[in-house]
Amino acid sequence: MSRGDGEAIGPDSVGVRRGQALSWPGVQHVLVTGGAGFIGSNFVRHLLAARADVRVITYDLLTYAGSRENLRDLPAPGRHLFVQGDVCDRAAVDRVLAEHAIDTIVHLAAESHVDRSIVAPDAFIRTNVTGTFTLLEAARAAWRGPAGLRPDVRFHHVSTDEVYGALAPDDPPVAEGAAYAPRSPYAASKAASDHLVRAYATTYGLPVTVSSCSNNYGPYQFPEKLVPLVIVSGALGKPLPVYGDGRQIRDWLHVEDHCAAILAILERGRVGETYHVGGGNQPTNLEVVEALCALLDARYPAAAHAPHRSLITFVADRPGHDRRYDLDCTRIQAELGWRPRHGLADGLAATVAWYASSGAWLAAIRDSDDYRRWIALNYDGRDDGRGDGRPREAP
Ligand code: NAD
Ligand code: DAU
Repeated sequence: MSRGDGEAIGPDSVGVRRGQALSWPGVQHVLVTGGAGFIGSNFVRHLLAARADVRVITYDLLTYAGSRENLRDLPAPGRHLFVQGDVCDRAAVDRVLAEHAIDTIVHLAAESHVDRSIVAPDAFIRTNVTGTFTLLEAARAAWRGPAGLRPDVRFHHVSTDEVYGALAPDDPPVAEGAAYAPRSPYAASKAASDHLVRAYATTYGLPVTVSSCSNNYGPYQFPEKLVPLVIVSGALGKPLPVYGDGRQIRDWLHVEDHCAAILAILERGRVGETYHVGGGNQPTNLEVVEALCALLDARYPAAAHAPHRSLITFVADRPGHDRRYDLDCTRIQAELGWRPRHGLADGLAATVAWYASSGAWLAAIRDSDDYRRWIALNYDGRDDGRGDGRPREAP
């Protein structure tokens, strides 16, 4: 892994200077926070397979969303190490940075589910805000050299399109630099963490990059999010809950494309810059659910509950539900030549196939008390106001 020329932001006395080359020889030591979660585990796998000159240290607390099972069968297990720890624990973070001579941090650890942030926001503020702050402080201390911050280091922060708030149907895609307008506790906590990361670049010269990404889907996604929830519930003949009228719009990105984008930014991105990463599509939620139902019909044609679209159940909307997101991804395409390789139809088909062949992985989650509690808490009694909880046709 080598890096291109970097352009600095921040004072000239510290950190990376404008135009300074960032390439250096030798093995890199990459800390992936949240590496046992959905995107993190895919990224660890992607990085180990793509680059022979990296050691990867996964640092993860293993909350309900993280699992060592997500890190099974890694392509180069000898170059990977797992450390269980909390991003809010400064002493533990200091230790892992020093013991493993970390020069690159890819920060993915977070509380990530919007619905949980509505029910219980506390953990979101702790992990997403305080955790990011703790990591920034630890990196600033660990990477201090005799003449200011070392130039051969990088803090990459993974953020979300949700920080920009909701778009109306005809609004143009949002470009980097647009004003933030987060509307859920999750989005607000991510926005706060983004501001902290940028503040550490301008104030201390910490060499940072930021990627803001749209909705990911693919292998190892925890089945609380729409795509895996529909696949898992549909295969079992359970109701498929669609919030509100189902006409909300998201941009869907296969997680492997996201991982390739992060690596491109690490290697060739400009220091101090933010890059948008999206799949370039705009289906309604209902269209996504119906596409998944058609894939389930094809896979389980004899199921008693086929056609699976009969399981679609309109339920009470998410409070403050953002209507639409859409990212302008011109910068990453023009500067880094990145483009998504998975179309949505093929990506969803591959994802259904992955879940169908991952029964043991799924069962471990489905049978857990935490998962059952969450499903009951979020969905029991959440009908559409007509009171009988029965499936509905689209409004
Ligand atoms: P996830 O919920 O699947 O995984 C989060 C991981 O972080 C888990 O392994 C969990 O154990 C770990 N974690 C949580 N709290 C921790 C703590 N205090 N210390 C250490 N580890 C902790 O999340 P994801 O979907 O993989 O998202 C990863 C990152 O990408 C998040 O920052 C999220 O905001 C961002 N993001 C996600 C999406 C998406 O569609 N999933 C889109 C854009 C951005
Ligand atoms: O946009 C990027 C964001 O995408 C990430 O920052 C978040 O971490 C990630 O969780 C995701 O947020 P969403 O809220 O968009 O994802 P989710 O899968 O929860 O919901 C997708 C859409 O589907 C959203 O409009 C809400 C709707 N939905 C979701 C669930 C769980 C339903 O209609 N029914 C459901 O049961």
